[in-house]
Amino acid sequence: MSKLVEVEDLKLHFKLGRRLCVKAVDGISFYVKKGETFGIVGESGCGKTTMGKTILRLLEPTGGKIFYDGEDITNVNMQKYRKKMQIVFQDPYASLNPRMTIANIVGEPIDIHNLAATPQDRKDKINEILQHVGLNSEQANRFPHEFSGGQRQRIGIARMLAISPEFVVCDEPVSALDVSIQAQIINLLHQFQEEFGLTYLFIAHDLSIVRYMSNRIGVMYLGKLVEVAESDELVFHGVHPYTKSLISAIPIPDPKAKNCGEKVILSGDFPSLLNLPSGCRLRTRCPCARELCEDSEPILQEISPGHLVACHNCQ
Ligand SMILES: Nc1ncnc2c1ncn2[C@@H]1O[C@H](COP(=O)(O)OP(=O)(O)O)[C@@H](O)[C@H]1O
Ligand SMILES: [Mg+2]
Repeated sequence: MSKLVEVEDLKLHFKLGRRLCVKAVDGISFYVKKGETFGIVGESGCGKTTMGKTILRLLEPTGGKIFYDGEDITNVNMQKYRKKMQIVFQDPYASLNPRMTIANIVGEPIDIHNLAATPQDRKDKINEILQHVGLNSEQANRFPHEFSGGQRQRIGIARMLAISPEFVVCDEPVSALDVSIQAQIINLLHQFQEEFGLTYLFIAHDLSIVRYMSNRIGVMYLGKLVEVAESDELVFHGVHPYTKSLISAIPIPDPKAKNCGEKVILSGDFPSLLNLPSGCRLRTRCPCARELCEDSEPILQEISPGHLVACHNCQ
């Protein structure tokens, strides 16, 4: 399968004044194959949303390269790609314009990309998409506040589908929803992926959700990827201490996972992105840290086919 999206040493640093700099994305490389889901998991504040937005060029990268279907899109005019790449946001309350009807929220991308020939065609398209996500056409003239969280996320997904994209960044699409609703939205995303052959970058802070959705997973810590592997390989044979801490935190113990390593509980909170530790970024919290970890930053290296890790103690 060929690569649809690839990033090389991607960086996004927010400059706050003359000296302060938040290194939200600090040299990340990975690829997403056509039709697969690549998951990104990591604690809140580690740079996931910033990375997703940078790949879509909603933020301009500080460094590195972005490729789409083999073309370098790091510096190009994005007009041609806006129709191919979409995002579903975390918070369906904040991401929908409260003053627009559902029909217009879903219709806006259709208008921007001139996808409807006539007003009737536009209306038909909107109704068809709403039905597809489990809403009905009578609801088209209502406003976002009249819907529940789960329904609002359906509207967000309808908006994404309206332009028939190829690649979708799903940025914590279920994190703001009740657990009982999460499975419905996850299943909907699954269904559309199969139906339309979508390629997903699926972001979440919860490994159990990422694992369920993803073919391969990248684990992110303070602006860097620390481990990348196929989903089962990562959950059953993850080696990075940070990955192990995430595995240890999966709420329902997996009987198969039980034997695959000791529990790792990290100490303390993660350090500020404004003031990163020298060497390995995890060392201040890592039970295996030694002198080498303070002196040099580990780089992501392959330890078995398709399994990469950045840790002095695991390579
Ligand atoms: N526009 C911004 N200006 C300055 N700092 C920002 C901005 N957006 C995000 N950040 C910071 O970048 C870091 C990563 O944020 P974010 O990408 O939202 O993380 P995540 O999605 O993993 O929770 C955080 O420290 C956040 O405060
Ligand atoms: Mg986020």
